[in-house]
Amino acid sequence: MKRRIGILTSGGDCPGLNAAIRGVARASYEMFDAEFIGISDGYRGLIQGEYREMHKEDFSGILTLGGTILGTSRQPYRNMRVIEADNIDKVAAMKENYKKMKLDCLVTLGGNGTHKTANLLAEEGLNVIGLPKTIDNDIWATDVTFGFHTAVDIATEVIDRIHTTANSHGRVMVIEIMGNKAGWLTLYSGIAGGADVILLPEIPYSLDKVVSAVEKRAKKKKRSFAIIAVAEGSMTKEESNMKGKERAALRAKDKYQSISYRLADQIQNETGFESRVVVPGHFQRGGSPSPYDRVLATRFGVYAARLIKNEQYGTTVAMKGDTVTHNPLSEVAGKTKFVPKDCQMVEDAKDIGIAFGN
Ligand code: F6P
Repeated sequence: MKRRIGILTSGGDCPGLNAAIRGVARASYEMFDAEFIGISDGYRGLIQGEYREMHKEDFSGILTLGGTILGTSRQPYRNMRVIEADNIDKVAAMKENYKKMKLDCLVTLGGNGTHKTANLLAEEGLNVIGLPKTIDNDIWATDVTFGFHTAVDIATEVIDRIHTTANSHGRVMVIEIMGNKAGWLTLYSGIAGGADVILLPEIPYSLDKVVSAVEKRAKKKKRSFAIIAVAEGSMTKEESNMKGKERAALRAKDKYQSISYRLADQIQNETGFESRVVVPGHFQRGGSPSPYDRVLATRFGVYAARLIKNEQYGTTVAMKGDTVTHNPLSEVAGKTKFVPKDCQMVEDAKDIGIAFGN
């Protein structure tokens, strides 16, 4: 049995992409007569016909390597069917190149946007298999995505290191963690790093609640030192009642670079405690995957090879409990796995005194 497989990584990168690519390739070579075509820079390469034949040795020595050997790009799903200035019909071009490469299937490694386009291509008749990657851990119907736990490790280390300097100076430190829509990374790293306040996009906050949490802690400890872990997409209760555009316009009027700078300023003004901001940013997506993510990405890759072998296309790999499984792309595309406001983990955090500002 022969299979010619196109493979691409799309959207924001994360640790574990290469481990997953290697998993797909190694298992495919074991299971059937596999040929690989590496598509450069995500869907952009598929649109523009930028790809290369790959061989066994290309997949060697990449297990621990961060980033993606294929390159990636953001190609917004909302524009996929829009003809832009370059006059290219992107969907037609992708189908054309799939044919030109003589593919039996296409494996797409990516997050929510990637899954939407993967589903679009499946609906257009291509054989597509998805793999869920993202540090945000917000893909529907999988317990976990690869890249997430490495980012949790990194963000936790940032919080740990900030703790010591916050303590020395008696400062309020506002640490901005990645996650625009979903707050999983902030929730996990905030608990792991012993944050005093955790703010998530899913749980709009009131400034007075955050201020009183800081003051309460200062009274107890006779010191103003406090750690606030803020997801970059966090918002106040008032902002949560606004439409996205209205909120963006309001923020644009601010002199602040991001939510954390505004919050730190407000806390300093309200409490008089010296406040500082730390934004680890893309640091959270860099470097080698953790052992957990190496194993997860490898297992996801192996499972994708099984799906290819069995021609179970139009699917995406997922973890349920401790079992790797798959879901139809159509059921996953367009949905986001948010932190449920009242989930046990949030309740647990509240029960050890962590404030969520609500
Ligand atoms: O989706 C992963 C993510 O890291 C988000 O947490 C973050 O908001 C976004 O990507 C940053 O995107 P970019 O790399 O395009 O700046």
